[in-house]
Amino acid sequence: MFTFPEGFLWGAATSSHQVEGDNFFNDWWKWEQSGGGLDRSSAACRHFSLYKEDFALARSLGHNAHRFSIEWSRVEPEEGHFSQSALDHYSSVLDALAANDLEPVVTLYHFTSPAWFSRKGGWLKRANTACFCRYIEKMTGVLSGKARYLVTVNEPLVYAYHSYLTGVWPPQQRSFIKAARVSRNLLSAHELAYRIIHDRCGVYKNTAPSVSVAHHMQYFMPWRPGIWNQLGVFLRDMMFNRMFLDAAFHAGTLDYIGLNYYTRQLVSVEIPGLRSLLSGTRSDNAWDKSSLGWDIYPHGLSEILLSLRKYALPVLILENGIATVDDRERAGFIKSHLEAAAGAIKAGVDLKGYFYWSLLDNFEWDKGFAPRFGLVEVDYATQERRARESASWFSRVCRTGELPE
Ligand code: GCO
Repeated sequence: MFTFPEGFLWGAATSSHQVEGDNFFNDWWKWEQSGGGLDRSSAACRHFSLYKEDFALARSLGHNAHRFSIEWSRVEPEEGHFSQSALDHYSSVLDALAANDLEPVVTLYHFTSPAWFSRKGGWLKRANTACFCRYIEKMTGVLSGKARYLVTVNEPLVYAYHSYLTGVWPPQQRSFIKAARVSRNLLSAHELAYRIIHDRCGVYKNTAPSVSVAHHMQYFMPWRPGIWNQLGVFLRDMMFNRMFLDAAFHAGTLDYIGLNYYTRQLVSVEIPGLRSLLSGTRSDNAWDKSSLGWDIYPHGLSEILLSLRKYALPVLILENGIATVDDRERAGFIKSHLEAAAGAIKAGVDLKGYFYWSLLDNFEWDKGFAPRFGLVEVDYATQERRARESASWFSRVCRTGELPE
């Protein structure tokens, strides 16, 4: 039996566009109406109006914290014009979390931009970070004193990769140069936001704000031994896992490490060259996978957590989850990844919390509503919620802090 430290944060994560519904003013909504992606987000999980019920459900499942994101396009639907009703809504969201004894972890940017921001060139233009700073300044008025853990940007490199390199997300650009520029501008936006938050946000339960990014890290492994595969592993680990984190760390803008971990990637460099070094992969068909084809690989979480010790910062697992139609597989996924987390704590990792992705089944971006990640099943026709067996198993760990053998 392993017992997690006193005060460990236990909860689940969501993001505004994936659960709220009717986010008419952002770039994704426009893209979806034009036929982008498999489904339109539409009503999503109606979380914008059902948030109180959803937080009561999270509390009933033993959670003591909850991660969610603010939808910038609701707060600032037109450039420079802020919606007081949207600001009041997110203030009520924070109050509802407090009423349910759920510590908030607040993400300020989770992939979706106001449509007017995209029309100005979005993250491609360094000058547009000023728009983001204006939004952050406005949000500090809502957040001050109501939250400790803040996330400036969710998965900046995943955004740059899908929106500007592979082109599967809006604005569907396919340019390494543009993806690199967007990544650099998101880093700058994070650093500026970090300083604004520390200048303007007051203490929460006598502690100063703790600010980071939610950084998606994959565990890269060679498909087969060989110098080219090893070089591919080294380059991808450096580019996708380390560079952004190291830059933010050396700029003094990380109070903790926010980690999103899902899976490993098997590196296979078939034809030696930059593209193959950076993107060649193979799949081990004998390995257990999620319904999205992602290898279930908890050892990768162990290795990544151990590698984070060099920063000597607290760590929060802000996302870890599985899309599956077999809920026993979800329970097994959570157990095996919590065992990895427990091993990391024993090895000296200052792990402060675990947030399962996601509380609810939700809109999985370009893949639509088919992937089911939720601890809680959502019937999209009726918007009924039904906690899965895995949620009950997880709730026992949340309540006791004890991980059964
Ligand atoms: C991400 C995002 C989430 C996803 C989740 C499953 O990591 O892409 O933070 O929005 O829905 O990770 O893919």
